Amino acid sequence: MAAAGSYISITALVILIRLAINLNLCLEATPIPPSGRNTQFIRTSCRNTLYPNLCFTTFSRYATRIRGSPRLLATTALSVAFNTTRSTTKTMINLSKHHGLKRREAAALRDCVEQIGDSVDELKDSIKEISQPGDNDFHRLMSDIQTWVSAALTNDDTCMDGFSGKCRKRNFKTNVRRRIVKVARLTSIALDFVDRYAAAPPH
Ligand SMILES: *[C@@H]1O[C@H](CO)[C@@H](O)[C@H](O)[C@H]1NC(C)=O
Ligand SMILES: *[C@@H]1O[C@H](CO)[C@@H](O)[C@H](O)[C@H]1NC(C)=O
Repeated sequence: MAAAGSYISITALVILIRLAINLNLCLEATPIPPSGRNTQFIRTSCRNTLYPNLCFTTFSRYATRIRGSPRLLATTALSVAFNTTRSTTKTMINLSKHHGLKRREAAALRDCVEQIGDSVDELKDSIKEISQPGDNDFHRLMSDIQTWVSAALTNDDTCMDGFSGKCRKRNFKTNVRRRIVKVARLTSIALDFVDRYAAAPPH
């Protein structure tokens, strides 16, 4: 059984390598159209984040808007994180009114709404500052934004911790956790893009 298993995986590996080689040849042969170049920028940028797949599926639809601009990439990522965080607080406020929650669950949810509410403010300030930099010193400004977005990520993590084992109802717990995980991942991606923009400002 074991021998058959490793034979199959070696065959699979050989097929994969062939596919990869073919794919490479295809890429070399086909010139990338302008829209493809925009998408390629998103793909390359996402590859260096912790969540490349979520990143690409989220940001590829903004490829034409972002073009190749690290500033627009950071701004769009902050906007996506802000919108998602804000809609998640609304959903959680709704959930907290749900009857049949245990007192402990309702309390965890209220704490979470408060923490995520702080994230909403921090992301909102970041967007305001990055969109209207005015005469402020670029490095100082970016350093403030990095601080705020990191704080937002910490709040999201704290909130998530509240749902790691306390709640009795499994569905409730997974439902809330899934939403916050997404918020935290999008915020982490936004922080990566802000960091990258801060490290290489356009002139
Ligand atoms: C965030 O929401 C606002 C208001 O609904 C919308 O105008 C904006 O396009 C959204 N941002 C992104 C990146 O989709
Ligand atoms: C919250 O609940 C209200 C009323 O039940 C509903 O109209 C609204 O769409 C809900 N909002 C969210 C974000 O789930």
